[in-house]
Amino acid sequence: MNTIKLNLKKLLLFISLLIVSCGGIPEESTTSSSEKKAFSVADVLIMVAHENDITRTLYTKAIVGGGKKQGFKFDEEWQDEKVEAGPLPALFLRGIANDIRKGDVPLGLYLSSDFPISASNQLVGKQADLFKEIKENRKPQHFFDEDSKLYTAMFADVAGAPACVSCHNNHPKTTKTDWKLGDVMGATTWQYPADSLSYTEAMSVLKAYRDGTTAVYNDYLEEIKNFKETKKPEVGEKWPSSGNYLPAPEVFIDSVRKLSAYVTMSSLMK
Ligand code: HEC
Repeated sequence: MNTIKLNLKKLLLFISLLIVSCGGIPEESTTSSSEKKAFSVADVLIMVAHENDITRTLYTKAIVGGGKKQGFKFDEEWQDEKVEAGPLPALFLRGIANDIRKGDVPLGLYLSSDFPISASNQLVGKQADLFKEIKENRKPQHFFDEDSKLYTAMFADVAGAPACVSCHNNHPKTTKTDWKLGDVMGATTWQYPADSLSYTEAMSVLKAYRDGTTAVYNDYLEEIKNFKETKKPEVGEKWPSSGNYLPAPEVFIDSVRKLSAYVTMSSLMK
């Protein structure tokens, strides 16, 4: 019975995801306090974390990995006028988090580690303790953070590509030089102020994440417009795997949407 209930919820969220994807949520929609709180905060954070995995993998493999083969550059200082490069994956994620923070949806997103490159990403307090467990069993941790009074979900961030390891091990500011492929390098942490969400609120969370992705991707394309010395890729339907191309924002997001819908559907059919 419980499984059926859970799957129904997932199905609802899945359908909702499709609606968001098609731009079906009216911008002015607000949550009425009488609307039923149909989703637990854990369900919603798992769903948005899943979308984040797909977005980050697609960006890392197809844009950064594929782009490097075409001679595209990616750099920490990508927003510096003199640097003609795109954002590193970690900075792409931070850009999404910043964009979410600017909006009305009270969703927090952080990338952190026990051995970070950037000191501001150091895990501390309860999160540092729970991270020890995540490192051992790689399972997500859901808890209420007493300090911030926020419902929190932490997910393992695994070194899934050789580039993660080589860049972190060799970075001038690294605090650890022996990362290996498959290591849990850190955690992606999500926070939300309520323990349950209405349908509209759950949709707003997913939409805020997707809008954040579009915003950072657009920033990258804006940087490219100002390139003076580097050859600019053609922006449109094609991907770097086929040459000097970058997908347009809607092409990129459409791929995220298709990939996440497929995985969500597979998990529904288990
Ligand atoms: C080309 C270099 C580069 C690559 C490739 C790279 N990172 Fe990073 N990563 C960085 C830098 C630089 C930061 C610090 C960014 C900041 O200022 O927040 C960072 C931040 C992080 C953090 C937050 C903690 C910290 O170290 O500050 C984690 C976790 C992380 N990366 C994991 C990964 C994983 C997993 C991959 C592969 C999927 C990866 N990184 C690929 C350079 C890289």
